[in-house]
Amino acid sequence: MTEQERLYRFNHPLTPGDAAPHRAAAALRFEEAWMARCIAGIEQEQGDVRAGTLEGFRAALDRRLSEARATPSEGARFVAEDASREQFRAIVREYALDGLTEAQAMFAVMPRLDPESLPPVMRILIDEFGCGNPARVHSTLYRNLLAELELPTALEGYLQEDRVEAAFSLVNLYHWLTKRAPTVDAYLGALAYTEGAIPWSFRCFVAACERLGIQNHAYFSEHVHIDAYHARDALLALSRRHRAHGVDFHAAWLGAELARCVGDEAFERIVRRAMGAKDVFRIEARGKRYCVVKACPHRGGDLSKGVVRRDGKAITCPLHGATFALPSGRRLGGPECSDLEVTEDGAGPEDRRPA
Ligand code: FES
Ligand SMILES: [Fe+2]
Ligand SMILES: [Fe+2]
Repeated sequence: MTEQERLYRFNHPLTPGDAAPHRAAAALRFEEAWMARCIAGIEQEQGDVRAGTLEGFRAALDRRLSEARATPSEGARFVAEDASREQFRAIVREYALDGLTEAQAMFAVMPRLDPESLPPVMRILIDEFGCGNPARVHSTLYRNLLAELELPTALEGYLQEDRVEAAFSLVNLYHWLTKRAPTVDAYLGALAYTEGAIPWSFRCFVAACERLGIQNHAYFSEHVHIDAYHARDALLALSRRHRAHGVDFHAAWLGAELARCVGDEAFERIVRRAMGAKDVFRIEARGKRYCVVKACPHRGGDLSKGVVRRDGKAITCPLHGATFALPSGRRLGGPECSDLEVTEDGAGPEDRRPA
């Protein structure tokens, strides 16, 4: 078990052993060292990370969010445009550590907030739990998505497999921020960044669901919509708290940067692993582009070296000659095997990239 998994189990104890005192002490020691490393990295990279004032914090936040929008990552493009159903499934599987425990860390922050900043944060929490409607609880929306993709819907299922380390750290960060960060200002800063980033950063997941015909996209589409309001609530909490008590904006900015760095790293690592889940290549046939799984379903022959029929309606494996229809992927002939996974690539000709 990795240190991040140990810490995750401490934050979400599934067995009495996860919260045992010796394990808890080891998990917290690891967390302290991990957070110190992350903060040192941010301070080193940015020199002076002090946003100083509310206006300074807002300006720095706006800059960060517009930078992210202006330079979408290759991972986001891949998810939106290229990921096969299997690859998307691999991404959803990794994020289950977060999706199935959505917003639980927020409970711990409530008693730490002052009466001025608590109501807007409470409003976010109420939304996270479906405004009283069990069907709209965010973790339920995630469970529905998992069920459609034929993945386990209980958290235990995800702790028995090999997981991307950064997927644990994404959740662990919020437990530190809400429970153990020296000031709750760090949490509010992280909340402002996360809620501000999601309406844009989740769009690639919405696009993937649309492209792949996934019905249970509400987990993503709901966040794209509602987090625009949550971003406003998070900033309102910060400004109210500042008026009433003063906010340590150095801590708030560190929180925002922690959320960005840990969140981005988790996304990139999860997507990178999913890319390897099934290697795909692109072909052009009859003016359209398709993403085709490289490994032939017969014995893994490399279909990227296969022959595409002149009319673009079939591809033949170079190894034993299995032939598949394009774009359906249906096996037309050759050795017995399942159909080929082919997805249409929606990008136009001006956006062609090498396969
Ligand atoms: S591996 Fe492709 S036909 Fe056998
Ligand atoms: Fe949520
Ligand atoms: Fe939110």
